[in-house]
Order: sequence, then C-alpha cells, then structure tokens
Amino acid sequence: MTDAEKLEVRDITRIERIGAHSHIRGLGLDDVLEARAVSQGMVGQKEARRAAGIVVQMVREGKIAGRCILLAGEPSTGKTAIAVAMAQALGNETPFTSMSASEIFSLEMSKTEALSQAMRKSIGVRIKEETEIIEGEVVEIQIDRPATGTGQKIGKVTLKTTEMETNYDLGNKIIECFMKEKIQAGDVITIDKASGKVSKLGRSFTRARDYDATGAQTRFVQCPEGELQKRKEVVHTVTLHEIDVINSRTHGFLALFSGDTGEIKQEIRDQINGKVMEWREEGKAEINPGVLFIDEVHMLDMECFSFLNRAMESDMAPVVIMATNRGHTRIRGTNYRSPHGMPLDLLDRMIIIRTVPYSEKEVREILKIRCEEEDCVMNNDALTVLTRIACDTSLRYAIQLITTANLVSRRRKSTEVTVEDVKKCYALFIDEVRSSKILMELQDEYMFNEIESDKAKDKDSIKGKGKDKDEEKPAEPMECGDN
Ligand SMILES: Nc1ncnc2c1ncn2[C@@H]1O[C@H](COP(=O)(O)OP(=O)(O)OP(=O)(O)O)[C@@H](O)[C@H]1O
Ligand SMILES: [Mg+2]
Repeated sequence: MTDAEKLEVRDITRIERIGAHSHIRGLGLDDVLEARAVSQGMVGQKEARRAAGIVVQMVREGKIAGRCILLAGEPSTGKTAIAVAMAQALGNETPFTSMSASEIFSLEMSKTEALSQAMRKSIGVRIKEETEIIEGEVVEIQIDRPATGTGQKIGKVTLKTTEMETNYDLGNKIIECFMKEKIQAGDVITIDKASGKVSKLGRSFTRARDYDATGAQTRFVQCPEGELQKRKEVVHTVTLHEIDVINSRTHGFLALFSGDTGEIKQEIRDQINGKVMEWREEGKAEINPGVLFIDEVHMLDMECFSFLNRAMESDMAPVVIMATNRGHTRIRGTNYRSPHGMPLDLLDRMIIIRTVPYSEKEVREILKIRCEEEDCVMNNDALTVLTRIACDTSLRYAIQLITTANLVSRRRKSTEVTVEDVKKCYALFIDEVRSSKILMELQDEYMFNEIESDKAKDKDSIKGKGKDKDEEKPAEPMECGDN
C-alpha cells in the first residue's frame, strides 16, 4: 500500500482526533461486573473499575439522586480515564456532563450559578408526545391548478390500507408538501395531522410490477394494515438546563447555541421543577438522571463545596463524580488543611474510589494500546525500553514519546520504531525529573530563582533570626477564592 492510499483509508475510518483518552471505549467489565485484565482499552486498576461499574449500574437504575463519588489517587493513575470509560458505558441516552473545577471561575456568572447549570445539564427529561397521523397507500391523486397559474389549488387524494379506503380533500399547504415530495399513486405515505408534514415511506409492493424502470433507491414497503388514522408516540430527550434556557425570557432558546445563557432565576427553576413533576405524574415525561463529573475538584473553593453539600440533597440532583490527585492540603480560599483539599463534611457525604499506581506489566499494556491508537508500529525491544522509561519517569511522558519516536523512525524511512528511535527522543525531550535536576544544578544562571532565598531563610532560622509570627504562615502563596 502506498502512503497516499494509507492516508485515504485512515481519513475515512477515523474522523475523530487522537486524544489522551481516545483509546478508551468502556470500562471493560464482564457480566458479573468483574474487570477483565485488558478490555475496551482499559488496563488493570481492577478494583476501581469494578467500583465504577457498580456506580454505572446505580446511575442506570436512575432511582437514587445526589450520590457523590470521589476518585482519588496519584497523578496519571487513570482517574480521568475511568470517568471517560463510565461515560462510554452509560451510552448516549444518559446525560454525562464533564467539567474541570477551574471552569467555574472563568465564566461570566457566579460560581454557584455555573455549578447549578452543570447539575441541571446532567438531568435528562424524556418527554413523550402522542401525535395523530394518517398512514396509507395513495390510490389516486388529483390536483387542479387554476388556469391563470395563480390562486388556490384544489386537490383530492384517495388513501387505502388493507382494510379501508377513504377520500380526503387537500388544502393549499398540504398540496405544496405533496408536490415537494413528488407523491404519486402507489406511494405509501404518512401525514402528521398536527403539522401537516407529509413523508414518503416507499412504494407499495402491489405496484412493483406496474413500472419497468425503477431507480436503485426505490424502497418497496407493504401496504399498511388496519385503520388509516393512527396514534403514534414520539419521544424527545432534553435536559433540565435546556428547558430552563428556553423558558427564561431574557435569553430565549438561541442562547443554547451561543452558550451565553447568563444567570437563570431560581423562580424559573422552581416552576420548571414543578411542571416536570406534573408531567411525570401524568405519565407524559420520565426523568433520566445522569452524571456530573468534576475533574480536579480541589480547585473548587469553600463556597462551592458548601453549595454542593446542599445541592446534592435535592431530588433533582444527578450522581456527582469528582476526581483529585491531592493529598492532605489546604482547602482553596481558606487556611484549613484537609484530606484531598476538601472539607470533611463533604468528604463524609461521599464514597471514595481509590486508584493505585500501575505495575510494569500494566504500563507496558497501556503503552501498547496507545501505540495502536497512534498508528505506531513499535518492536518489542523498543516497547520494553519505553516501559522502563515510563516506570522511571512517568506514564504520561512515555505516552508522549510514542508519536515523537514514530516521527523519528519515519524520517529514516523505517516502518517500525526501534530502541534507537526511543533513545533519540529520550535525549531530545527531557522529562520533569531531569528538568528539575538541571534547574537545581544551574540555578544561578536562571532568573528569579527562589531556592537561594529559601536557603538563606533556613540559615536565618537556624541562627534564631527572623522567628516571628509570619513564619507560622504556610510557605506557599495562598490561592485566592474569587474569580
Ligand atoms: N487503566 C488504564 N487503561 C488504559 N489507559 C489508561 C489507564 N489509566 C490511565 N490511562 C491513560 O494514561 C494517561 C493518564 O491517565 P489519566 O489522565 O486518566 O490520569 P489521572 O489519574 O486523571 O491523572 P491526574 O491526577 O494527573 O489528572 C491517559 O492517557 C489515560 O488514558
Ligand atoms: Mg485527570
């Protein structure tokens, strides 16, 4: 296969771009929710995946509102990956809103409003509607145009099913629809009574022999059975947030496209909650609670955390999944330290799923999957070296080397990546550990280096100087809670 051919095939099969998690297609669990070692792009981390599978089942059942789950673990142990897998496992029907905690500080609205909107985006409402339709095979159609060419057209159509046949008079609007769809005798059609929309289902089998030449696309269908007039149920799925936006008069539905929804009044939300409950009781709507995923949750501040405490107690709350890689640290916007940088009362309301670092074998497996994802053929030795690099530095760094090594190998017109290519990239691009080591060694050459002053401070404190109240304060600068 030439290069050009290869490119073309790839263009057709993959329109999506390759992202950090594009190799993940699900949680990779079996029927009894046990995690398979390698499946659907997921490797190892069995306990956490199994726990995630149980959460997915809880969401699918849709009975429980406002549960909160925290994914906690070291950096690059697959917390975000597991959340992506959960979204895949839930499918398109269940709303899954994914956001990073810092997003709420950059929007043109208050932090709590941004959180409320995110929560309401995660609750789906399936609205059922019954419409009346006429469905039948066209026996005869007659449209009279006035001789002048302008003015009202009049028309008649005879429709039949296997059991009955009826004549209908056609209005001007429906005649236009008939002409647009090029309806002829022998077509099987449906007419939506409320909107007057006409659609062609295909040609009737009974007429198949009447025509010698039919196009390749002609679809033949059976003549409908039973009554001509039927009731049909249509289901629309929207989120609570979409209903909010459409009903908030100041913005209108176009705000849905621009995303510029502004703040929505609480009264509107209350009214909509009431209305949706009414629909639910009347059997017109079903609530389909989904998931709100907040990544890097330690970036939320105290106000957000206490807002979440309360918001999760509402009936209309989704299941909230959070992820963090922080240990014991300060809660943003305060001076209090707490596990995961989150207040204890919120932690008390959640169940925690822990992710653990990967073994060498698992790292190798992840790297292998990433090679496939990035269309890179790597030989076994190179993969071994790359695995070693991943264990010594980080998984993310090793993943970055795949594409670069692939490019290096392509430059020397090789079809597979060898140890040499990996080594070359390892030398060209340094990782975080080597970079900080270089900084330590060459600190005097750089600007604004603070290690020196820290050392001086240490010396001072040893000498007993500068021991005032200020030293009690934490060394790192305090993050401010406002946007
Ligand atoms: N079990 C796994 N199976 C397959 N790929 C994985 C797995 N775990 C992690 N990865 C991949 O490794 C990379 C890093 O993982 P991820 O981004 O999920 O880490 P994280 O726990 O969210 O880290 P951080 O705390 O830094 O956000 C991603 O490309 C991810 O897809
Ligand atoms: Mg992450």
